[in-house]
Amino acid sequence: MTQISLSELFSHKHNPYPIYAQLREQVPLARFRWMGTDMWLLAGYDQATTILKDPRFTMDWQKVQPAQTGRSDDVASSYMPLAWSKHLLNTDPPDHTRLRTLVSKAFIPRMIEQLRPRIQQLMDGLLDTVQAQGEMDLVAGVAVPLPIAVISDLLGIPVEDRKLFRTWTQIIVQSQGAAPGQGASGLEAEKAFVRYIKTLITNKSAHPDNDLTSQLVLAEEAGDRLNEDELISMIFLLITAGHETTVNLIANGMLALLEHPDQMRLLCADSSLLPGAVEELLRYTSPVTLSGPRWALEDVSLYGQVIHKGEMVRCALLAANTDPQQFPDPDVLDILRRENQHVAFGKGIHFCLGAPLARLEGQIAIGTLLRRLPHLRLACDPQQLTWKEGGSLRNLVSLPVTF
Ligand code: HEM
Repeated sequence: MTQISLSELFSHKHNPYPIYAQLREQVPLARFRWMGTDMWLLAGYDQATTILKDPRFTMDWQKVQPAQTGRSDDVASSYMPLAWSKHLLNTDPPDHTRLRTLVSKAFIPRMIEQLRPRIQQLMDGLLDTVQAQGEMDLVAGVAVPLPIAVISDLLGIPVEDRKLFRTWTQIIVQSQGAAPGQGASGLEAEKAFVRYIKTLITNKSAHPDNDLTSQLVLAEEAGDRLNEDELISMIFLLITAGHETTVNLIANGMLALLEHPDQMRLLCADSSLLPGAVEELLRYTSPVTLSGPRWALEDVSLYGQVIHKGEMVRCALLAANTDPQQFPDPDVLDILRRENQHVAFGKGIHFCLGAPLARLEGQIAIGTLLRRLPHLRLACDPQQLTWKEGGSLRNLVSLPVTF
């Protein structure tokens, strides 16, 4: 077992780099106790890229014994039995290939690029309401509402319902990792969420529109289509994976720029640097700190250790993205960095489906903030910023700025 505890690892929200470096230097594979079971955490870049592509590890927890998943019946009940039952992050080929084929067309960069004018319009609308005030909370003003509006538009979710799923998602995310018996509110939120998605699907089946939910209801590939459970899980995944993560890219990315005025000046002076800058912010802030869990399908010897069949592994993506073996001066934010093969979106067959959309949203949000608010400054000492407690995500509670 490693000397660092998981709670210690997740408690350094503002400056997580030293503790992740310490983890990486201690052992390539660190072993933790998590929810009553042993879990291996991979901290290096090579280790992460190897495991994320290794078919000897499954994302389908139903393939391993319940006792080895860390999901006792009690814990499993707080774990969204329906919504988690069959989606991309819970399946292996051939199921995964089939599901991904049915949804992937909507996410190819050419299709996503067509959303640019609409995303720009949404972003401008958000700034129009605050520009005259000279100050705002960047989390509540931009980082949260933009990704919610974008994914809702894409899925055809009515404006008046958007607050609901934000609330449900937050309850569900917070209840993950809850102690056995403590996940009741997460389960209730999930049930309400699933009921809502069912109604959405029924409405779109009856009156198809020009949105992704209607396309998914009708999607057919070689005579194959998504059944109702798969549709619910897919929409649930797109909503949850599609906003919480991008909130962090925008908020934590802007914080990183505000704390590195030299980099911010460079970017303000030349907007053609935006795509590279967003890649660097993805690497540097790693909006998803840990990969999803995988379980060994057989005993696997790696880096001098044996990961036994059924044991869980996760990759510390932030540690991999700041591994000096892969990135020179990894703790330096350098928007001109070349060779930036970060793993912020994962690797292998589960590489983030929404990456082109997240990149576009990040570029539009950050580019517009810098262009329209040239005097943007932090309104408090960065040490006073509050972060949501627990969990592996680094979510700012608020980011007060003046402009
Ligand atoms: C998968 C990160 C935005 C949908 C993933 C994975 C990562 C990730 C690391 C792989 C997890 C693993 O292998 O364990 C991010 C980050 C985002 C972002 C950092 C924003 C900055 C989005 C958006 C969407 C989305 C906007 C959808 C609209 C998905 C889906 C998967 C996924 C569906 C599962 C893909 C599969 O298993 O084939 N994401 N994501 N993500 N992401 Fe994202």
